[in-house]
Amino acid sequence: MQEKIIILDYGSQTTQLIGRRLRELNVYCEIVPYNKFPQDDPEVKGVILSGSPFSVYDERAFRTDLAPIRGKYPILGICYGAQFIAYTCGGKVEPAGSREYGRANLTTMERGNKLLQGLSENSQVWMSHGDTITALPRGFRVIASTAEVEVAAYQAEEEPIWGVQFHPEVFHTTEGTRLLQNFVAGICGCSQNWTPDSFIETTVDELRRELGSDKVVLGLSGGVDSSVAAVLLNKAIGKNLTCIFVDHGLLRKNEFQEVMRDYESLGLNVIGVDASEKFFAELAGVTDPEKKRKIIGKGFIDVFEAEARKLADVKWLAQGTIYPDRIESLSITGMVIKSHHNVGGLPEKMNLKICEPLKWLFKDEVRRVGRALHMPENLISRHPFPGPGLAVRILGDITREKVQILQEADHIFIQGLRDWKLYDQVWQAGVILLPVQSVGVMGDERTYERAVALRAVTSTDAMTADWARLPYDFLAKVSNDIINKVKGVNRVTYDISSKPPSTIEWE
Ligand code: XMP
Repeated sequence: MQEKIIILDYGSQTTQLIGRRLRELNVYCEIVPYNKFPQDDPEVKGVILSGSPFSVYDERAFRTDLAPIRGKYPILGICYGAQFIAYTCGGKVEPAGSREYGRANLTTMERGNKLLQGLSENSQVWMSHGDTITALPRGFRVIASTAEVEVAAYQAEEEPIWGVQFHPEVFHTTEGTRLLQNFVAGICGCSQNWTPDSFIETTVDELRRELGSDKVVLGLSGGVDSSVAAVLLNKAIGKNLTCIFVDHGLLRKNEFQEVMRDYESLGLNVIGVDASEKFFAELAGVTDPEKKRKIIGKGFIDVFEAEARKLADVKWLAQGTIYPDRIESLSITGMVIKSHHNVGGLPEKMNLKICEPLKWLFKDEVRRVGRALHMPENLISRHPFPGPGLAVRILGDITREKVQILQEADHIFIQGLRDWKLYDQVWQAGVILLPVQSVGVMGDERTYERAVALRAVTSTDAMTADWARLPYDFLAKVSNDIINKVKGVNRVTYDISSKPPSTIEWE
């Protein structure tokens, strides 16, 4: 039995953060749309109502029938969540004189209150709201205020309901995690035992129950998500799992062989397919980035399908989809799977059911699970790498010769990052082969050769990124090594653009 907190999502941009904070407290939680509360789930220990871009009296406001929840579980409303509870229980919510946004200090009336225990006097909180609660419902009382907001936190007398006008989940609410812990542990009674080991144990049990003796196929990419998914499934169903790793010829230098070795040493049943001929033939002369992506996407499905059809009786397609891939918090219309997933359309075509064992995990949790599964560190901490591989790092058309030049330059850069202990300090790094040639001089000879750009960024989720401030001495060494060792390159530049307005990849 996996005790859990349900977070009802009303569309706030910080809903995911509430989930992150609870997971950091080793409490399992699920974020569900505001109208999808899981009825009669014996594992639910408490409910949190998130913030929202709407006002409670807005026609478009998301409303939940609280009757099946009230009295049955402890409830915490955050921002809109707090206003929605107050409003539907008979209180009054009105536009604040001006939008309140930013830091405020909390004065608590009840220091011993279960929700506020352990918070310091004048604790800093973060406000972001246009409305304010002007009257509480009968039987509710104020437990904390700020200079501007009288009802900064409240509690119901007769039932386990709390509300806070500020956002405990954001970084600027300095003791927000303490408050959330008070709610989930102190009030809801969660035992904070959600750890990688407990995840592995429950997931392996569930997979065994769900899959029985069915055959499962999974596409490996060399990336951390699909690798961890494969090892978990292997632990659950062993040889009934077949993994397929397609080499489109656009991977890093020696990557296919190295990753295949890692997979085999993990005991995985992997079919490695060298399909590079097909991809190079189909990509010949193509320069448009989106066309390249489409050709590679379709080629990947063709190869994967051909291999999967050779296996008898496959019933399931497993994928390394993780939680952020599925959350479409702002539309709340349901879960949307990102279109970049490599095997789009295949499940319908082959009549396969989908199995996604990591679908509730965030990226850092996937890494923690991988470590708990004793997977090699080079698989776990590997930088993200785009599905179309080096094709989107070669500007212009693709040839084997260009791929080879890029692989050599990329290898020097990445190995250099490892040697200088910089690899784990950047989110992602690589080299881009530019479609320009420039004049140089080597020995007494004039050269007219290619230029490359080094790209290294820091990020937490690839949505935004900044260029990594790599040491000059390091850049000098890499530049020197590339120009001296990679035939055909006589100029190295460093990309100092952030995202936005640029992107991480050049295509
Ligand atoms: P951008 O270039 O959009 O990249 O800033 C954000 C992240 O996504 C990766 N990326 C891709 N991954 N298929 C993928 O599987 C793609 O077509 C693709 N394009 C970009 C990129 O490497 C970065 O991590």
